[in-house]
Amino acid sequence: MEKDIKGYAYGQVGQSPVSIADLELLKKTVLFTEEDEKNLRLAGEVLKDQTNEILDLWYDFVGGNEHLVHYFSKNGQPNMDYLTAVRARFGQWIMDLCNKPYDQTWLNYQHEIALRHHSSKKNKTDDVDTVPIIHYRYMVAFIFPITATIKGFLTKKGHDAETVEAMYSAWFKAVTLTVILWTYPYINKNEF
Ligand code: HEM
Repeated sequence: MEKDIKGYAYGQVGQSPVSIADLELLKKTVLFTEEDEKNLRLAGEVLKDQTNEILDLWYDFVGGNEHLVHYFSKNGQPNMDYLTAVRARFGQWIMDLCNKPYDQTWLNYQHEIALRHHSSKKNKTDDVDTVPIIHYRYMVAFIFPITATIKGFLTKKGHDAETVEAMYSAWFKAVTLTVILWTYPYINKNEF
């Protein structure tokens, strides 16, 4: 259950500095349409019982790269409780990305996640003492692995190649949109 996920605060956070009007223009810019929304809902159906396998794959990627596991660590020691706590919210995020309407509540939570990656709020939710910020360059770099690795999971439920491709594009656009919103705290005032 969503509400049982430690630190998950959807609907309970401050206002995003990005307006709905700006979000609409961003959606237009990444060519995100109502068709993509439908395909994301379908992706949600396809992915919902595969989130553990997806997270295993992503965590293997992070765990296998010292420069990435660094962001869950202090003095080179990964904090296992932190990795586990974030994993539960990450699983919920997969479902939210596919199923939630991209409204003011969604926008507000994107800003909260942005702050949680940035020095503004990293470590606070789980009350841990690890490195203080995830560097901007890796936020953007993650768009590719988080996108490319989803394709195999989208093929698992017998959809034809065209439908898989449509779900995949919708996912790629949604992740791009999300990461743009998550970089807000890293950008100089009036330059976002
Ligand atoms: C938190 C996804 C980039 C490390 C989270 C959460 C999600 C997520 C869903 C939990 C949000 C919540 O609290 O509800 C993603 C996605 C990324 C990305 C989709 C880019 C496409 C990165 C990168 C790193 C990273 C590059 C570095 C290894 C972390 C850490 C937290 C976190 C350490 C916990 C932050 C805290 O202290 O609250 N991420 N992330 N993330 N992510 Fe990411």
